[in-house]
Amino acid sequence: MAAAAVILLAAGAQAQNTSFRPGQIWSDDKGVHINAHGGGILYYRNVYYWFGEHKTEGPGGNNANVGVHVYSSKDLYNWKDCGIALAVSDDPASDITKGCILERPKVIYNARTKKFVMWFHLEPKNGGYDGAMIGIAQADKVTGPYTYIRCTRSNPQTWPVNVLPLHKEPVTGRNARERSNLNWNEHPDSVNTLGRDFQKGQHSRDMTLFVDDDGKAYHICSSESNSVIHISELTDDYLDFTGKYVRAFIGDRMEAPALFKKDGLYYFMGSECTGWAPNRARSAVAPSIWGPWTQIGNPCVDRDSETTYHSQSTFFIQVAGKKNTFIYMGDRWTPDNAIDGRYIWLPVEFTPDGRFILHWYDEWSL
Ligand code: DGJ
Repeated sequence: MAAAAVILLAAGAQAQNTSFRPGQIWSDDKGVHINAHGGGILYYRNVYYWFGEHKTEGPGGNNANVGVHVYSSKDLYNWKDCGIALAVSDDPASDITKGCILERPKVIYNARTKKFVMWFHLEPKNGGYDGAMIGIAQADKVTGPYTYIRCTRSNPQTWPVNVLPLHKEPVTGRNARERSNLNWNEHPDSVNTLGRDFQKGQHSRDMTLFVDDDGKAYHICSSESNSVIHISELTDDYLDFTGKYVRAFIGDRMEAPALFKKDGLYYFMGSECTGWAPNRARSAVAPSIWGPWTQIGNPCVDRDSETTYHSQSTFFIQVAGKKNTFIYMGDRWTPDNAIDGRYIWLPVEFTPDGRFILHWYDEWSL
């Protein structure tokens, strides 16, 4: 037996993982640290697919120099490199030209169209984060190649369900329509960011997708200069907005939205806004995706809870075949050498008073 194991290793086979080790190097089947940051998981035909940002070494490594990387796994511990699902373009005129910002890609499967649909945060090259757009791509095969379709702001020329009369007033003077961001001390309604962006479409920066039990899909993003979360319903083909959306957590300034559903309740997690630096997470629960959302505090409870254990949320994995088993998926960013970013995966635990919490574990398994 020992001899067989030695032979396998000598032949270059990777040792099998049987646990998660948050924050450690996580090697794929080729022995290379997994490169899928700001990621999300799609479970399709008994296989998990992990899509994320392919980062590169050194300064500039957070820009999209390669595209969206995809890996597959049957057990969530061991991941096979399936290559680049969506490649950036060499064409300088393309929206997804090499060097743009392409973050937090999420892929969902549409059973009606039988297509795999990818949405991501897109910032045109050299524009900083002022674009605040969404890119949409689609593929026939789960691992791609994905074909880029278009980019857009969210819900152009559409008011949310909970629009206020003030939003429909002309945006002039101190509301400074041309300003793309709020100052830190401004409330989004005091400068009417919603009205400001009505024509062009609302900001969509950090984002995720969520598919409900009935197959309806939703886009959840940090909008209105990162001060409000927008939750929008998608069309049946998952390629557009239906126009139904709500503003949630108004003025609370959150990024990194992630959602899961358990026993009919919707749970939300997000972060504060401090760039690549970690901060304290927030969480909320609601009886409907449309709200009302009740904030239930920082889900992290151990040492380093104030920095979300040096991570920022990106997704919750629902573990197949295990009732009510969810995994928190977060990123430990390393902006000086983005490719070295680590993954913080922790089990989601529930308290008797209806909150979810995250304990720190150096090593754990399902
Ligand atoms: C925080 C976001 O959550 C990340 O996805 C990224 O956009 C950084 N900000 C950029 O500073």
